[in-house]
Amino acid sequence: SSVETGQYEHFMLKEIDEQPTVIRNIIGKYQDDQGQLNIGQELEGLTVPKRIYIVACGTSYHAGLVGKKLLENIARIPTEVHIASEYLYAKDPLIEKDSLFIFFSQSGETADSRGVLNQIKQQGYRTLTITNVQGSTLYREADYKLLTHAGPEIAVASTKAYTAQIAVVALFSIYLSEQQGLEGTIDMFQELRTISIAMESLKDMKEQAKQIVDDYLTGHQTTFFIGRQSDFDVCLEGALKLKEISYIQAEGYAGGELKHGPIALIEDGTPVFVVITDDNVAKNTRSNAQEVKARGANTCVISAKGSEEEGDAWVLPKVNPLLTPLVSVIPLQLISYYAALQRGCDVDKPRNLAKSVTVE
Ligand code: G6P
Repeated sequence: SSVETGQYEHFMLKEIDEQPTVIRNIIGKYQDDQGQLNIGQELEGLTVPKRIYIVACGTSYHAGLVGKKLLENIARIPTEVHIASEYLYAKDPLIEKDSLFIFFSQSGETADSRGVLNQIKQQGYRTLTITNVQGSTLYREADYKLLTHAGPEIAVASTKAYTAQIAVVALFSIYLSEQQGLEGTIDMFQELRTISIAMESLKDMKEQAKQIVDDYLTGHQTTFFIGRQSDFDVCLEGALKLKEISYIQAEGYAGGELKHGPIALIEDGTPVFVVITDDNVAKNTRSNAQEVKARGANTCVISAKGSEEEGDAWVLPKVNPLLTPLVSVIPLQLISYYAALQRGCDVDKPRNLAKSVTVE
C-alpha cells in the first residue's frame, strides 16, 4: 500500500502531526474493555528481570534514554542504555545473569542492533524488541515483541517513532510494576490521553515554530540545546533532528556541563535552546541559561505551564513529569522542520542519510 503526503508538503510534517493519533492508537491497542493493561499475551512467560539493557541507534537510542527513566522510576528495575554499534564490540561486558535486552528500532532492520541481538541470544539472554515494523528482522528474532503502531514512517528524520517507542515502554514499565505488585503506579492510559490532547494543541503552533526559526537561527551555523534530566534527553534528540535535516551544527548538552567546555563556543547571538519542563531542575537550568546569555547567547526557552517565566519563547501544556519528552520534543521537531525549509534543504531525504541502516 502506498503512503502519501496528502495535504502536506512533506512526510516529516505529516508524521509530526500524526503523533496524537499514534498515542491514541497505542492506547487502543494496549487497553482492554475494562480499561486495564492488555499486554500480557505478547509477554507470555516473561518473568521480571533483575536488570534491563536497552540497545538502539540514532533517534531510537534517544527514546531509550527516556525509557530508562520510565523503567527505573515505575518498574524499579536498574536499566542501562547502550548504543548498538558500541555494545557490539564491548570486550567481555559484565552482564547480570537474569537480564532482559530491549531493542528499540523503528525499522527493525538496523544492522548494529541486529548484531547485538545475535550475540546476546547466543549467550542465552532474553530479548524484547520494540519496533514499528511487524515481521522485521528484530521483530522475528527476539523472544518477545511489542509493536509501536505508529504507521509507516517515511521521512528519514524520525519523529512519531520516537514518541511511540516512549509510550510503549511506559506501558511496559507499568506491566513490570504490576507483575511485581508495586504500589502507587500511575494511571498511564489517563496520562497518555492527556499527552495526546497536549500534542493535539501543538498542531496549531506552527507559526510560532517558524517565527523562532526566523528569530534565532537565521544566519547561524552553530547551536546548543541544553536541559537537565529528561529535558536533557530531549535536547539530544532536538539537536540530532536539527543537524540531520537543516545541516546546522547542533549540540545537545547537559545544562550543568556547559561550563566545563562548550561555553567557550558561545558568541554574540549564538542560538541556545533551553528546555525547562522538569520542576526539580528548573531553577538550575534557568541559571545555566543566564550563564550563556551573559556571554552573548540568544536563549530560546521552551518551558511548561507552571514553571514558565516572562520572556519564555514557548510554554508547553503541563503533563506528567515522567512523560514530558513526549510533548517537549514536538517544538524541537517543528523548529528543525522549518529551519530545513528556510534553508531550502530536502526535508524528507537529507543528504548522506538513510532511513534504515542495514550495513554495519
Ligand atoms: C537511521 C535513521 C534514524 C534512526 C536510526 C535507527 O540512522 O536515519 O532516523 O533513528 O537509523 O533506526 P531504527 O530503525 O533502528 O530505529
